[in-house]
Amino acid sequence: MRVLVAGASGVLGRRIVRQLVARNHRVVGLARSETAEATVRSLGGEPRRADLFDANAVAQAAQGCEIIIRAATAIPTKVRTGPKDWVMNDRIRREGTRSLVAATARVGARAFLQESVVWAVGTLDGRPFDEDASPARDPILASALDGERIAREAGSSQGFPTLALRCGGFYSADGWHTRILADSIAKGRPVLVGRQSPLWSLIHTDDAASAFVTAAEAPKPGVWHVVDDRPVTLVEFLGEMAKRLGARPPRRMPRWLARMFLGRYGTRLLTSSFSTSNARFRRDFGWRPSFPTYAEGLDEVVKSWRAEGFPSRRS
Ligand SMILES: NC(=O)c1ccc[n+]([C@@H]2O[C@H](COP(=O)([O-])OP(=O)(O)OC[C@H]3O[C@@H](n4cnc5c(N)ncnc54)[C@H](OP(=O)(O)O)[C@@H]3O)[C@@H](O)[C@H]2O)c1
Repeated sequence: MRVLVAGASGVLGRRIVRQLVARNHRVVGLARSETAEATVRSLGGEPRRADLFDANAVAQAAQGCEIIIRAATAIPTKVRTGPKDWVMNDRIRREGTRSLVAATARVGARAFLQESVVWAVGTLDGRPFDEDASPARDPILASALDGERIAREAGSSQGFPTLALRCGGFYSADGWHTRILADSIAKGRPVLVGRQSPLWSLIHTDDAASAFVTAAEAPKPGVWHVVDDRPVTLVEFLGEMAKRLGARPPRRMPRWLARMFLGRYGTRLLTSSFSTSNARFRRDFGWRPSFPTYAEGLDEVVKSWRAEGFPSRRS
């Protein structure tokens, strides 16, 4: 089948393109620069120039595609973020989704899939939750659920299934957030906040991509949590990362210092728990993560870092 991937040059999209191509699907990847075009081409996809905020260009790029996927984000890649840093990500989740569902209807594609995040729902206090949980009360996360609703409404009025794959926290050798945590640990900078030990549901980004490919091959409407088999405390995850890097155990910082260095959002993220399960996605699609827990995933990540000499101990 022919698939349009928006965000084809990003950390999730690159993997979706590679895995779809490996399964003999044809992939059209949206790109906004020559570099992004080259990335899509190197993965075996066909790049098409279009910005998600140009609905006509997106619909033209989608011509002939049966499945449309939004894997694009503009998640800020800096340590301290404020509300302004999230504006573009919110626009992608709302306006970008609008462009893509309009394109889905215009080209008569069979289904629309998009990434969302598990911590957009639930109480975030450590109690486990599932796909039916109420929205988390956090303005930065509202756009994720708005994107899901925009797609659902378009799908039900235009007659195509929409799938929201709410992913756990991504980790991968090339993910900016994984790298900044490893770099901080290697340099002895604190990465844990206060006395808390939040519990997180993670997913290796390769497995997040395989979930998209699995769902794209047999689409049906719904919302699923795409996480690995066992939530882990942040202290265990980062402690095991430190061990594998040959670094000292991760240091803690008091909450007031975290507020100064990480801002309100970063502090909230590092002190919130999101613990959920992949039971529904496994049941409905027969999918299994290839890295069942962070332990197998970190082995792969650190092996790949070793090969590139990352992280360096020098600041
Ligand atoms: N669940 C999670 O934990 C989760 C989910 C997503 C991301 N993340 C994290 O966020 C960080 C950044 O992610 P990333 O590497 O994917 O981001 P990225 O490298 O910035 O990639 C985002 C993708 O979205 C595309 N895009 C952005 N704005 C667009 C627009 N207006 N129109 C069309 N395409 C647009 C980009 O295309 P161009 O190349 O053309 O700019 C790129 O392909 C990483 O650390 C990642 O792990 C985490």
